[in-house]
Amino acid sequence: MEDTTYSIPRIGDLAPDFEAMTTIGKLRFSDYIKGKWTILFSHPADFTPVCTTELSGFAEEKAFFEERNTNLIGLSIDSIHSHIAWVNNVREKTGVRFHFPIIADIDMKVAKLYGMLQPGESETAAVRAVFFIDPAGKIRLIMYYPLNVGRNMEEIKRVLTALQTADEYKVALPLNWTKGEKVIVPPPKTMNELEERLASNLEMVDFYLAKKELS
Ligand code: BEZ
Repeated sequence: MEDTTYSIPRIGDLAPDFEAMTTIGKLRFSDYIKGKWTILFSHPADFTPVCTTELSGFAEEKAFFEERNTNLIGLSIDSIHSHIAWVNNVREKTGVRFHFPIIADIDMKVAKLYGMLQPGESETAAVRAVFFIDPAGKIRLIMYYPLNVGRNMEEIKRVLTALQTADEYKVALPLNWTKGEKVIVPPPKTMNELEERLASNLEMVDFYLAKKELS
């Protein structure tokens, strides 16, 4: 019997490396992601309605991702011929050009490596996964959506901004945080830090929940 218990990478893991055929040619993932933020996302199938809206959404946010030093790369368990035909069809019908590479994972190698193949949902199509990978190659946030529910581009943009803000300012981001709102200052870890916190003019509910504006 085939083993369908595929491993799922976890937050904090280094992104598993692979070589794959894509719509821009063969690439090694570790080369593609070097020194940049990367969003690796899978879709169940080419020429399907929800997937068309989702990949169009990524394409329409090209400038947003470029401004944030972020590469995009898609994946599905379809052939390179299917990808090319679909990309061309969407461009002809809607004018939207999928500028990012799409992996043709016909042998499901990458889908299995990234836990995108979830047999309880489908044995032949990848679920809607999104991996946020930092410039050091570490997985920082993972989303999995089922086949019948499209993702939320505002949330994808929000969490990328949140991850980058957390790194830059060494802060944490509260519920529903969006850019421009107050951020959470990490709680004190020593008694000295506690004293400093209590003497500070941070907006505080108590010493462990303090917020500040980012200047
Ligand atoms: C879609 O993208 O529309 C879709 C793909 C696979 C299963 C269900 C919906």
